[in-house]
Amino acid sequence: LYVIHIAAEMAPVAKVGGLGDVVTGLAKALQKKGHLVEIVLPKYDCMQYDSIRDLRALDVTIESYFDGKLFQNKVWVGTVEGLPVYFIEPHHPNKFFWRGQYYGEHDDFKRFSFFSRAALELLLQAGKKPDIIHCHDWQTAFVAPLYWDLYAPKGLNSARICFTCHNFEYQGSASASELASCGLDVQQLNRPDRMQDNSANDRVNPVKGAIVFSNIVTTVSPTYAEEVRTAEGGRGLHSTLNFHSKKFMGILNGIDTDAWNPATDTFLKVQYSANDLQGKAENKAAMRRHLGLSSADDQRPLVGSITRLVPQKGVHLIRHAIYRALEMGGQFVLLGSSPVAHIQKEFEASDMFIIPSIFEPCGLTQMIAMRYGSVPIARKTGGLNDSVFDVDDDTIPHQFQNGFTFTTPDEQGVNTALERAFNLYKNDKASWQRLVQKDMNIDFSWDSSASQYEELYAKSVARARAAAS
Ligand code: GLC
Repeated sequence: LYVIHIAAEMAPVAKVGGLGDVVTGLAKALQKKGHLVEIVLPKYDCMQYDSIRDLRALDVTIESYFDGKLFQNKVWVGTVEGLPVYFIEPHHPNKFFWRGQYYGEHDDFKRFSFFSRAALELLLQAGKKPDIIHCHDWQTAFVAPLYWDLYAPKGLNSARICFTCHNFEYQGSASASELASCGLDVQQLNRPDRMQDNSANDRVNPVKGAIVFSNIVTTVSPTYAEEVRTAEGGRGLHSTLNFHSKKFMGILNGIDTDAWNPATDTFLKVQYSANDLQGKAENKAAMRRHLGLSSADDQRPLVGSITRLVPQKGVHLIRHAIYRALEMGGQFVLLGSSPVAHIQKEFEASDMFIIPSIFEPCGLTQMIAMRYGSVPIARKTGGLNDSVFDVDDDTIPHQFQNGFTFTTPDEQGVNTALERAFNLYKNDKASWQRLVQKDMNIDFSWDSSASQYEELYAKSVARARAAAS
């Protein structure tokens, strides 16, 4: 299959959060399975340019429509992590991607609706015939209605559209009139069965538009896919998702197990593996020295947390966990969100990793933590519920038990899990070490998740061919 991802992020060149990791991880896994995979990104000024190889500008420019006028876009092509990537640089007076940051601008709706249209224009003008166009999150959700309303009629009609929502918290709603800028028909689309926001009839919702107009809609874990179909979890879109439930499913993300590998990771002071944990202890000691944490008592458990500090992540519960961990004689290292790499430092060194999220579409840090032998303590929600299984839960087969979980999003909940973790760590070293080794050996690679996407793509393409013949 020929798959083109249109996205706002891709790790490591343009990464803010998990979205960037997923675009790269999924694309690499599909490429490895023999598919032709390309990626289209905006050319941000603040990208990590040294992760692009052979970057060069194409000779031709791409003309795209916005706000009643035509604009030229310079298109760059390069290789990131072995994947061919197109970068679109609009020559627009507003300098859409020349802001020193990826998101959080007052005109994000304009910036990304412009990009979505320019990306489709690139595919059309370059004569590309992808089988699948895969877009991600609200920033490129515009691709779905644009494709069917404007581009399929113009001849870019080989593709099925797949949309993945990584977080229903962010839907990109805006005043309906804004939609006209990228050439979409406001009258036609601002309807309850199309893009109209479910809570305001003068607003349009890009994520809703992508649900309605895509052939395949996914989110990033099976449990989250269930949660967002309820009134409490759906952030206003549960009825839309239920209406379109036949094309909607949750697929658990994987992680890039080449990039995240303690045996080869050069960011570590000492490399290590499940069969040789000495290096982990050395990293822990080095990190304690580096952070000025007292290391007099080597036996103390170290709890880590790496997260964007937003309410979703249960910041108040993290604060509580810090108090409780210290009270019980442990140490705590917290790293708040930052777009820079090198965050492996804390995984390698901590004994436990806490993720008390209020909701969590998938979550990747629990998987990375386990890969580095840091035992997860997680709230049972979304993708955490699909990847962390309590060691004391008899309903779960022993071979799947890998961490400590709790349900209620309060201090009591945190305590029940944290205390059990400390208990095992302090009182049963042998069991703890077996748990660490088991966690390091779990397969969180993209292989099986990518196969699920492959199957969805193939089925959708087959349905289209059957309908056409
Ligand atoms: C978003 C979600 C996170 C998920 C990531 C990748 O950042 O909040 O749970 O792991 O996207 O899909």
